[in-house]
Amino acid sequence: MADRSIRIGGLTLKNPIIAASGCFGFGEEYNEFYDVARLGGVCTKGLTRRPREGNPPPRVFETPCGLLNSIGLQNPGVDAFIREELPMMKEMGLVVIANVWAECAEEYGEAVEILSRSAVDVIEINISCPNVPGQVIVGAQAQQAAEVVRRCRSLCDKPLWVKLPPTAQIDAAQAVEEQGADAICAVNTFRGLAIDIETGRPIFANTFAGLSGPAIRPLALQVVYQLAAAVEIPVIGIGGITSWQDAVEFIMAGAHAVQIGTANFIDPLASMKIVEGLQQFMEDRRLHSWEEIRGCAHEGSPL
Ligand code: SIN
Repeated sequence: MADRSIRIGGLTLKNPIIAASGCFGFGEEYNEFYDVARLGGVCTKGLTRRPREGNPPPRVFETPCGLLNSIGLQNPGVDAFIREELPMMKEMGLVVIANVWAECAEEYGEAVEILSRSAVDVIEINISCPNVPGQVIVGAQAQQAAEVVRRCRSLCDKPLWVKLPPTAQIDAAQAVEEQGADAICAVNTFRGLAIDIETGRPIFANTFAGLSGPAIRPLALQVVYQLAAAVEIPVIGIGGITSWQDAVEFIMAGAHAVQIGTANFIDPLASMKIVEGLQQFMEDRRLHSWEEIRGCAHEGSPL
């Protein structure tokens, strides 16, 4: 009998499919389409210490095989999340991954400390949002990334995953591993630009926006392949995954699990279809566990 579960640090997920932050709300709407508890886990929208209204519209713009977004982390804040959303998520039986963003290491620490006393299962430190005016992407800098993770680790006993930008270098991944991260999530959106040719101005108020969807998949896969070879902790692959075949590619590149984002907007059943497709793949290939193919694309792999 195949074991479809995966282990990330001390945590076991029933399968390697996780709904990505920002593309799944808090899970409730998708639960009308299928039992969301059948997913390995659900990442919340990026949460901040205090509520945020987000960026002015427009906030999304479709591109060939992709989606630019400039949401700007609209969210109710960690206290309201814990009070109003988390009980419903736990009642639904979800493994809850709280995605957290902040302006500085101290503020990350504050939000993470509050969440660490709640019922969330994992905290995903988001050091890769490209959409906040005037803010650098901390995850692109090894030293700054390490400082945030050090601070959060000292305040939290729950599993800490760190979501990196596509521009993160191997040294940033290794630096957060050294500070006690339990997993690396790669990648967040690529910074992109769209211009309205009638006005000659950028479409988005914040000029740049984050590109996701199949357009970025081979680029994300390349990053995951490299990171998986460079760190010991699990890598969770993200970037344009829309089918179970895409998910298999990421596992073969070395990912322990994958997150499904933009595909949920195209087809609300996408994540569940990927769970089922992977299950069938395991049976067809007579795999006993994901370990048998994880990282097989790397040179020197036994496969
Ligand atoms: C946003 O809210 O603008 C996107 C969040 C992210 O990319 O981390």
